[in-house]
Amino acid sequence: MSKAEQYARKAAGWSDAEYADATAYLSHRADLIATLGVPLAPNDEVLDLACGDGGLGAFLLERGLRYRGVDAEPAMIDAARRRLGGRAPVDEGDLNDYAPPAPVAATTVFRAIYYARDRAAFFARVATFTETKLVFDLNPRQYRLEDVVADLRAAGFSRVVLRPFFVPQTQRLPGPLVALAKAAERSGPLARLALRARFTYLVAAAR
Ligand SMILES: C[S@@+](CC[C@H](N)C(=O)[O-])C[C@H]1O[C@@H](n2cnc3c(N)ncnc32)[C@H](O)[C@@H]1O
Repeated sequence: MSKAEQYARKAAGWSDAEYADATAYLSHRADLIATLGVPLAPNDEVLDLACGDGGLGAFLLERGLRYRGVDAEPAMIDAARRRLGGRAPVDEGDLNDYAPPAPVAATTVFRAIYYARDRAAFFARVATFTETKLVFDLNPRQYRLEDVVADLRAAGFSRVVLRPFFVPQTQRLPGPLVALAKAAERSGPLARLALRARFTYLVAAAR
């Protein structure tokens, strides 16, 4: 079965199946989108490329931001439209050539940066319609950070901030442990040690 077919089959209920504690995970992601690096302002629009079922959308909307989802898979788009219920637009598009109808404050790409055919060209395209920052997650065991930061700088995103993201995807933690995981993200060398084995960075790249 192709990857696209797998996504189509999993589209309904994607976020609830993929995240052991979708609220803890996606609300923390939304907090960092709003605050990491250059902060977003109320009513700023976030363009979420490869949005899946748009599970992130509600958490950005409740922070006073606007949301626009984009995905290549029609079943994911249907799921996102149903989930968001008209509170945000969802477009069909390939992140390699999609452009929003008007510039956005922030563009996000989660668990999908590997779908960019040419990463440097992708960052450069995103820079043409992104006014404040690009935010995405990055597995440092899969990509060399220096290479990614160099591509961001070449695209005009000169201020790059990396934050370890330690709320687990596949494990539901009790509330106090979620708080501890978030505190550990700021632990410097210890956090970098943990990233050698597990977890990802959240990257915020601003102009
Ligand atoms: C691993 S899921 C991530 C979904 C969501 N961003 C999340 O973090 O839960 C990858 C998503 O990328 C979409 N996708 C794959 N290739 C794409 C492309 N070239 N352009 C846009 N979306 C794509 C898939 O349909 C799927 O919804």
